[in-house]
Amino acid sequence: MIQGKVFLTRQIPQEAVRLLQHEFSDVEVWADEMPPPRNILIQKARQSVALLCTGEDNIDSELMDNAPSLHVVSNMAVGVDNFDIAAATKRGIALGNTPGVLSATTADLAFALLLATARRVVETDRAVRNGQWKISWHPLHFASYDVHHRSLGIIGLGLIGQEMAKRGLGFDMEILYFSTSRKRSIEKRYGFKYVPELTALLGQSDFVSLHVPLTPNTRHMIGKTQLQAMKRTAFLINTCRGAVVDQQALYDALVDGTIAGVGMDVTDPEPLPLDSPLLTMPNVVITPHIGSSSYETRSRMAIMASENIIAVFKGTQMPACVNPKVFL
Ligand code: DGY
Repeated sequence: MIQGKVFLTRQIPQEAVRLLQHEFSDVEVWADEMPPPRNILIQKARQSVALLCTGEDNIDSELMDNAPSLHVVSNMAVGVDNFDIAAATKRGIALGNTPGVLSATTADLAFALLLATARRVVETDRAVRNGQWKISWHPLHFASYDVHHRSLGIIGLGLIGQEMAKRGLGFDMEILYFSTSRKRSIEKRYGFKYVPELTALLGQSDFVSLHVPLTPNTRHMIGKTQLQAMKRTAFLINTCRGAVVDQQALYDALVDGTIAGVGMDVTDPEPLPLDSPLLTMPNVVITPHIGSSSYETRSRMAIMASENIIAVFKGTQMPACVNPKVFL
């Protein structure tokens, strides 16, 4: 039995809690639905050898300076924008995340948003509920945009981007991509087309789907200029991070008809305030950051996040380490 506390900042699937309880003398789960307040998080970190947290918990140098016994922090998320990676590496704290296990599930949701926005699924469901379905079938009512045989522009061809692109192939879409690194073997295998210029990709795509991590370089990478480069009939799909899009510019573009609509699983801030003007637009579909939220995937993520912690204490390789330099 490993002596020391593992603090879990949220309730997670039980099978992963049991995994940790099997290995550690003290496993404490934060039972409230709301995240632990900052001072409590720091206090718990101070008492712990490991933290299992989510992308909402800010793991910065202040927290780490207050946690001399902390060996590992494991995100139940693939995104790591809540981590100060350099600060952790300097202090010898290993950081873990959960890539791969959530890619297909997140791409399923991204494609659901694409279909929902293009075919007006949510808007017309609301119309039915509001008594606006007055004629069984009318040649001009509720017309929407085709998805099949149109072009899908992927920004960021990582694991989730690739899964999204493969879903597009199933709808006979032309797949274009823009990425910091060109992936020739994937291009060749699936027939994707690399577009080296972001603006060119935006101008050629009927749907643009975002799959980049949030970094200082990608913050607001889609702003007024980029939205203006898109077709007026195009849709934007965002399942990565809200701050990758300048939300005010997005709202303006929707009001002006610069783009046809947006499907977003992530917003800036989260939760999206109820008075956000985006919520007044019929051509916006918003889900509450549920990309990876299937029963199976959340269980896989929780287990992987726990295994990252266990590996550090057993001296085996972490399933996914964000800062492997820490072990050199
Ligand atoms: C992820 O895995 O990064 C999700 O967006 C949750 O933060």
